[in-house]
Amino acid sequence: AEAEKGGWPSFMAKEISEGPEAIRNTLRARIEDGVIALGENETLTDEQLKNLDRIIIVACGTASYSAMAGEYAIEEWARVPVEVELAHEFRYSNPVLTENTLVISISQSGETMDTKMAVQYAAEHGAHTLAICNTQGSTIPRESDAVLYIHAGPEVAVASTKAFLAQVVGQLLFGLHLARVRGTMTDDEIRTVTADLEALPEQLAFTLENADDVRELAHWMSDTRSVLFLGRNVGYPVALEGALKLKEISYIHAEGFAGGELKHGPIALIEPGQVVFVVVPSPRTQPTMHSKLISNIQEIRARGARVIAVAEEGDAAVLPYADIVLRVGTTHPMLSAVLSVVPLHLFALELASAKGLDVDQPRNLAKSVTVE
Ligand code: AGP
Repeated sequence: AEAEKGGWPSFMAKEISEGPEAIRNTLRARIEDGVIALGENETLTDEQLKNLDRIIIVACGTASYSAMAGEYAIEEWARVPVEVELAHEFRYSNPVLTENTLVISISQSGETMDTKMAVQYAAEHGAHTLAICNTQGSTIPRESDAVLYIHAGPEVAVASTKAFLAQVVGQLLFGLHLARVRGTMTDDEIRTVTADLEALPEQLAFTLENADDVRELAHWMSDTRSVLFLGRNVGYPVALEGALKLKEISYIHAEGFAGGELKHGPIALIEPGQVVFVVVPSPRTQPTMHSKLISNIQEIRARGARVIAVAEEGDAAVLPYADIVLRVGTTHPMLSAVLSVVPLHLFALELASAKGLDVDQPRNLAKSVTVE
């Protein structure tokens, strides 16, 4: 196993470092001339895609957070209603499924029992099924009408990291393809997004190479007992993912919230010294949400919170309001989850390591949950 880690202290550390390569492989041969080139076996026929009136994405855990990030993009670009359902809830909720429904499953392993059962249910009830999966030849893709492999490479650590990035990118590719087929985006509009997609691997590599702040922070915080995460829009699933990683491998109580939800309850948790990570939307492309989130930060700081902001390079407005700012590259807003999640993955890794925990094999958890 030591050899397989290739010099890294853990599989998780290795797999985080493989993020840029994972994305490169997800994108490979799928963009031609700036537009998306997906085969019919990777989606559905154009005719079927045109007739869709609803998409439901089913997944569990980290894959379900990637689905929430994908939901915003697919709906925004292809103008089809999209919803995300936890796979284990979906099957027991008597969902409305027709031949114009597409059920997309997201699974790294392709073996998650809850997700597999949701896909079977969808197929039995007449919906189309598309698997977005990492593991070639696994059960879920075999049981689906179509499969879009993300090619992130093997993921061994229980905590999913690079697969999350590739799952989001896989959905973005699908969303752009759907938008093209349905005529809701022009090729030129698609090209502005694919240019940003192709820039992601290098931006990720830059974030990974400049992560000393995150490391220091994690060491400084190794006694912390509770961490909150806030985000809006695609930053919201990133907040949920940051919290899940911390629970899984650091055994620290952590929760993610949508910024707007604060005053509806969670703000009562804020007391002096409470650490809150805030995933800040871009001031350039999402100015309204940016200023709303700055207001959220002001509200929690007034109550003594210590704020760690994950913010776009050049966002100076956030500086006076944050104790620490972790920088990520500039990109299209629908792609931003891929960049902003990385400091949170690194933070969980470093904090668990600082506590001397086994990051690859956290207690009570299995890499893939093959029982219901
Ligand atoms: C992520 O860190 C988890 N260990 C877990 O939530 C995982 O993402 C979930 O069990 C789904 O697994 P899958 O992608 O293999 O279906």
